[in-house]
Amino acid sequence: MEVIIQSSPERSAALAAKMVARLVREKPDAVLGLPTGGTPVPLYAELVRLHREEKLDFAKVRTFNLDEYVGLASDNASSYHAFMRGHLFDHINVQAKNIHIPDGMAKDISAACNAYEEAIRKTGGIDMQLLGIGTDGHIGFNEPSSSLSSRTRLKTLTDKTMHFNQSHFAPGQKVPRYAITMGVGTIMDAKQCVLLASGSAKASVVQQMIEGPVTAMVPASVLQMHPRTTIILDDDAAKSLRLKDYYRFVYGNKPDWQRCE
Ligand code: GLP
Repeated sequence: MEVIIQSSPERSAALAAKMVARLVREKPDAVLGLPTGGTPVPLYAELVRLHREEKLDFAKVRTFNLDEYVGLASDNASSYHAFMRGHLFDHINVQAKNIHIPDGMAKDISAACNAYEEAIRKTGGIDMQLLGIGTDGHIGFNEPSSSLSSRTRLKTLTDKTMHFNQSHFAPGQKVPRYAITMGVGTIMDAKQCVLLASGSAKASVVQQMIEGPVTAMVPASVLQMHPRTTIILDDDAAKSLRLKDYYRFVYGNKPDWQRCE
């Protein structure tokens, strides 16, 4: 695990965007795994800027989103479909046929989940999986106790997650109890994972993810087992890490050829 501590969420976003840009320039038809939530918003803004100002070309890029709420149609303003259009897809030249997001209105959810897995497999696999983390340690919507080898499936959200995500819904609109999410095993199959976390509300779970035991009670901790994972934190999210001075030293002394900046 590589742990990089930046001075602000904007600097974290800029670094993650550079990593995406480097991949897309090297492999124009790269397969990106994409998250939602507040954390990736500055990252998507930076990717839009790179597209507009530096001609970063998404024409052949393929994308797979981590999750979607069950019962929300793609035109529902609180759906992750709408989130992705608003923050990224409507502002870059990604082709509609290359965008994949679980269908929250699928009649046969189990068949839709299997088809999602198959669609990922057919591309040759996800090159870079971008991730956020929930305060309970979830990645995608893999809540605590999720099997660490799970695949795309229906998940029941915890009260805590529903409470936290309420801010993304209109007042009076209830957060759905169920979601379709890529599994932990699906995420672990990605060739590279890049997880972003910012703010002091994430400090405790970030410490557990990086320095605690690998446990299904903190699903993100499984990333300790991934051969190529980068965790990008701001100072607040990093504040409880026991080895934070060590991580800063390692990153500060990396040879130029290994750096993304
Ligand atoms: C949701 C998403 C996760 C995301 C999490 C954190 O639950 N399903 O993929 O990581 O929110 O969101 P935020 O970045 O707003 O803290």
